[in-house]
Amino acid sequence: MMRDLADRVAVITGGAGGVGRALADRCGREGMHIVLADVFAGPLDDAVSELQSCGVDAIGVVADVSDYDDVTRLADAAYDRFGAVHLLCNNAGVGAGARGRIWEHTLNDWGWGLSVNLWGVIHGIKAFVPRMLAGGDDGHVVNTSSGNGGIAPLASTAVYATSKAAVTTVSEVLYAQLRAAGARIGVSVLFPGPKVLKTGLLTSAQHRPQRWADATPAAAPTTIDEVEDRLRAAGVEPDYTPVADVADEAVAGIRAGRFWILPASERTDDRIRARAASMLARAAPDYMEA
Ligand SMILES: NC(=O)c1ccc[n+]([C@@H]2O[C@H](COP(=O)([O-])OP(=O)(O)OC[C@H]3O[C@@H](n4cnc5c(N)ncnc54)[C@H](O)[C@@H]3O)[C@@H](O)[C@H]2O)c1
Repeated sequence: MMRDLADRVAVITGGAGGVGRALADRCGREGMHIVLADVFAGPLDDAVSELQSCGVDAIGVVADVSDYDDVTRLADAAYDRFGAVHLLCNNAGVGAGARGRIWEHTLNDWGWGLSVNLWGVIHGIKAFVPRMLAGGDDGHVVNTSSGNGGIAPLASTAVYATSKAAVTTVSEVLYAQLRAAGARIGVSVLFPGPKVLKTGLLTSAQHRPQRWADATPAAAPTTIDEVEDRLRAAGVEPDYTPVADVADEAVAGIRAGRFWILPASERTDDRIRARAASMLARAAPDYMEA
């Protein structure tokens, strides 16, 4: 269990904004050295400068987590600069492919969403965990999932929910195997929330890379105002969890060696029970929300 974070090294992907940035602030306040990675150089530079101006020992590495060469370069940069990695936060993610019907999604919808949200985590594990094990120190891996898919899917977000279900599974297996190997590396799966977060995730389709271009773009929102209008039109009043609260939960969970970093929420618990009840009853999956 990694109780003492001071002077340890944290690598955080998708660290230029949102949850990743909040994790970096929080880990920096704990006295950790920070390696921040993001696909966007400008926001990454700004984040690293702000961390440094608060006295945090931080570097930034431009890296696309969907590209294994980039992630190995990230690992090399972290080990070259700090000689060790103790905390790996596989956090980068995109709110990909909320197109509606699963059979109308393009293969590029699947490619983009899974390459970042799932392969990004796989790449992080492959590039870092062997080196963390070889280092022999205690350590921790935090993979960011979502209640959407990680617990039960929202029926309207096929790609995202599928990717996050897989992130939860990858994390469970990683936990079990590290434990069976007697490793000193803990694992957590982080569920940011319980409410949505006012971050770039909700509008990330506007930055969809050319590689996964969309010939028939879905009408994805480009601003938070548009997101809120849609929520209200669906009868949901926007209500946000601050990203700083997510980072606090994450650090508390790492310290406690908790696998499920899943904030208390009646609504979440109801969804867990409804899904489990449906399976136990061999019933239809009518628990799903749109
Ligand atoms: N926002 C929510 O309500 C919510 C809820 C549950 C889970 N999550 C998860 O939290 C994580 C962080 O999301 P967020 O809400 O902070 O969104 P965000 O868009 O604010 O932050 C994600 C960061 O990842 C970066 N990124 C995107 N593609 C990348 C790539 N290929 N390689 C490296 N970096 C990349 C973005 O530039 C951005 O800085 C994601 O995994 C997301 O799925 C978010």
